Amino acid sequence: MGKIVLLDELTINKIAAGEVIERPASVVKELIENSIDAGAKNISIEIENGGIAKIRIIDDGKGIEPDDMKIAFERHATSKIRVADDLEAVRTMGFRGEALASIGAISKVTMTSRTEDSETGYEVVIEAGNIIAEDVVACPVGTSITVEKLFFNTPVRYKFLKKDYTELGYIEDVVIDQSLINADIAIKLTNNGKVITKTNGSGDLKNIVYGIFGKDIAGAILEVNYKFEDMEVTGVVGKPEIARSNRRNQIFYVNKRFVKDKTLLASADQAFKGMLPIGKFGFLILNLNLNPKKVDVNVHPAKLEVRFTEEGNVYKAVMYAIKEGLLNNSLVSNIDSFEAAEVEEVEVTNKAKEAKEANEEIHEQIKTKEKKFGLVDLFKKVSKDTEKDYGDYKDDNLIEQLYNAKYKTEDKSRSSKYRS
Ligand SMILES: Nc1ncnc2c1ncn2[C@@H]1O[C@H](COP(=O)(O)OP(=O)(O)O)[C@@H](O)[C@H]1O
Ligand SMILES: [Mg+2]
Repeated sequence: MGKIVLLDELTINKIAAGEVIERPASVVKELIENSIDAGAKNISIEIENGGIAKIRIIDDGKGIEPDDMKIAFERHATSKIRVADDLEAVRTMGFRGEALASIGAISKVTMTSRTEDSETGYEVVIEAGNIIAEDVVACPVGTSITVEKLFFNTPVRYKFLKKDYTELGYIEDVVIDQSLINADIAIKLTNNGKVITKTNGSGDLKNIVYGIFGKDIAGAILEVNYKFEDMEVTGVVGKPEIARSNRRNQIFYVNKRFVKDKTLLASADQAFKGMLPIGKFGFLILNLNLNPKKVDVNVHPAKLEVRFTEEGNVYKAVMYAIKEGLLNNSLVSNIDSFEAAEVEEVEVTNKAKEAKEANEEIHEQIKTKEKKFGLVDLFKKVSKDTEKDYGDYKDDNLIEQLYNAKYKTEDKSRSSKYRS
């Protein structure tokens, strides 16, 4: 008799979940992304005990119809792509229709939703991939998803969960990552009823930075808005005075997706070169907008790495963007400090000229260096310099280590890469 068997649906989904859903923060990430995709303007994330006991996400997005609700928990169920031609979208946006199926396989999920053209809402309860209850309910337009008993049937994963406050730290990071790049969406996170982070959806990044990083940081950031060929770099850069001795405050997005990428870190180092002492890293929140076809977002949804087809251009675009942000804005702050109007005019013209020259000089320097080393070598050199540090940045346990070092004897509050 043959020995090959086909795995059943639940087993397949549990295996997929193992890759996609590593910890409560992964659930939060997937669900926030779905709420954003549904056009939500308000997203509320309520968790209990670091998400281990309960995660609830409420949005005011377009909602989902009863029939679709049930299908949504099946593997490869997505409303975001239709045909094989859209495969490009799977690659670039990561719509694989896998998140809900994965989450539903390893927990108890209650999904309640109503669309605008429906009088009533509908609720389904899924446990270990099966619908265990469904009914018509009264609810506002939008979707609410509650996840309980996470990892109840995957004991190994459950065992690897860290303490509540550590898991909360990971969730906080995910929420902040999303809050910073979705300034026009009000996002709120509470743990056991206590507000952890909250943004107002005003669309003003500076405002969000204020709320998350505090007054001192918000007062020392400068706007970045730079076009390079078909790429666009937007966000904020911190003045040298708020540089830190780690990279936690260098936050990058590619097409609004949070990423960790060495090319981008290398560009930042090059841009800040000469402005910061060795071992200090400038504050950055940048989004690189480029043709999705020019970036390979790893199909693995839990991974944050990307690959650029035009690495050299990305490197330049980001470096110039930061340089320009720092230079142009220092010009603006200089203008502020001038008293006499006449002097001002002369000075401003001079400053503008100086800034322009400085900018040109930098471009020249880069060009000469490129000629000398070749851009690829230059990039390799810089990224080699950053490697050691980046290793730290990638180490998840570092957050916990830092936490333990800092709070061991104090009360058990959370730890987040943004707060350490
Ligand atoms: N908050 C939500 N609001 C409206 N529809 C949702 C929401 N969450 C999930 N859905 C629907 O469920 C489908 C499956 O979600 P998911 O498993 O995350 O796959 P994907 O996001 O890749 O499409 C989505 O395509 C969407 O149609
Ligand atoms: Mg999704």
